[in-house]
Amino acid sequence: MAELQRLLAPAAAIELAAAEAACCAHPWSSGMYADSLAGQDQVYVYREEDGTVLGYAVLLLILDEAQLQNIFICQPQQRRGHGRRLLQQLMQLAASQGATRMLLEVRDSNHAARALYAGSGFVECGLRKHYYRTEHGPREHAVLMEAAL
Ligand SMILES: CC(C)(COP(=O)(O)OP(=O)(O)OC[C@H]1O[C@@H](n2cnc3c(N)ncnc32)[C@H](O)[C@@H]1OP(=O)(O)O)[C@@H](O)C(=O)NCCC(=O)NCCS
Repeated sequence: MAELQRLLAPAAAIELAAAEAACCAHPWSSGMYADSLAGQDQVYVYREEDGTVLGYAVLLLILDEAQLQNIFICQPQQRRGHGRRLLQQLMQLAASQGATRMLLEVRDSNHAARALYAGSGFVECGLRKHYYRTEHGPREHAVLMEAAL
């Protein structure tokens, strides 16, 4: 079974940014990951037993609330159930650290992620209008979702 491994070394920011740029339309920069690793976030790599990297996730715990800051599955590994299993492991991990609910925000147009979250027990709980920049055209809404843990 694939497992979560916490990343702490500042150099991981380069690995994370490169991996996300290869599979996501709106990746974090290495600077954003460096800030994340240096701050309160918990940064995880999700690996198969043989070491194959499946994806990454960033979690923030504030008292009894967990915020999923980022999650992605590397492109060749997508649509094989890894995203669902990674999210389940993150929810269990957050609960084991005392969180009673998990919150996240997702781009309005990110139908794959929204379907993943809805299928994992998340419900929509708000909208931040014109929150995300886009390359061209108007800014995009952020949909807020939450799940009980
Ligand atoms: C969103 C993401 C993490 C899903 O990971 P994944 O491993 O491909 O997803 P899974 O195979 O576990 O699929 C779980 C569910 O997600 C939904 N889903 C995943 N990919 C989808 C797609 N391309 N289109 C529509 N629904 C999709 C489906 O509901 C799926 O359930 P199903 O297989 O029973 O239909 C992955 O697409 C990804 O990394 N995307 C880029 C980064 C991103 O958008 N992250 C979210 C930021 S908020």
